Amino acid sequence: MRGPLVIAIDGPAASGKGTLARKLAEYYGLKHLDTGLTYRAVAALLMAEGGLEPNGERAVAAAGRLDLSAMDRDLLSAHDIGEAASKIAVIPELRQALVERQRAFASQPPGAVLDGRDIGTVVCPRALTKLYVTASPEVRARRRTDELLGRGKPTDFAAVLADLKRRDARDMERDDSPLRPADDAHLIDTSAMTIEAAFRAAVAIVDAAISAKDRASPS
Ligand code: DC
Repeated sequence: MRGPLVIAIDGPAASGKGTLARKLAEYYGLKHLDTGLTYRAVAALLMAEGGLEPNGERAVAAAGRLDLSAMDRDLLSAHDIGEAASKIAVIPELRQALVERQRAFASQPPGAVLDGRDIGTVVCPRALTKLYVTASPEVRARRRTDELLGRGKPTDFAAVLADLKRRDARDMERDDSPLRPADDAHLIDTSAMTIEAAFRAAVAIVDAAISAKDRASPS
């Protein structure tokens, strides 16, 4: 097979797309980029430097300074950083700057798995395989609540559910690159699936795409 192999994964918060992306990257020997972390890292930089701005200039400068290999998932997973990331993600100039960084990451051999909200629609529209991973808001809120409780954080299911719904609305209703499945995305609804079952379903889809590509251009 020629050229970098790119797997694009989109979906709402707590759908399981991040876990799936990491497992697929490991299985196929690809790099992985959680693009949500790029928005979170910019939000964290702006917050540390004195606040979020409606004007995109500082956000674009922060995006240029990001080291994609040094984004700390634990630090950036804080709730207020996620909220801030979702808010600055509506700024078109910032999106353009981050999309360029994300595309450069995806174009390096041997290829990569990218997960986010606009990977199949905007960042990598020519990806070999596009997956749209989702689950009902209740199931996602239950997973997020259990995860937080497991880390010893007092958590209220109803508050988590309301929060997820608010985040979904913001991500799906913004004008620039809203969260939606690409026309050629494969839908994986993980509401009633284990992560193992979702992984097997995804591997079957990716393997079929690799075989089809090999048949179309045998090396
Ligand atoms: O996946 P996450 O919760 O880490 O993402 C945080 C926010 O970043 C999310 O609410 C919207 C934004 N985001 C985006 O607009 N586009 C992406 N490709 C990834 C994340």
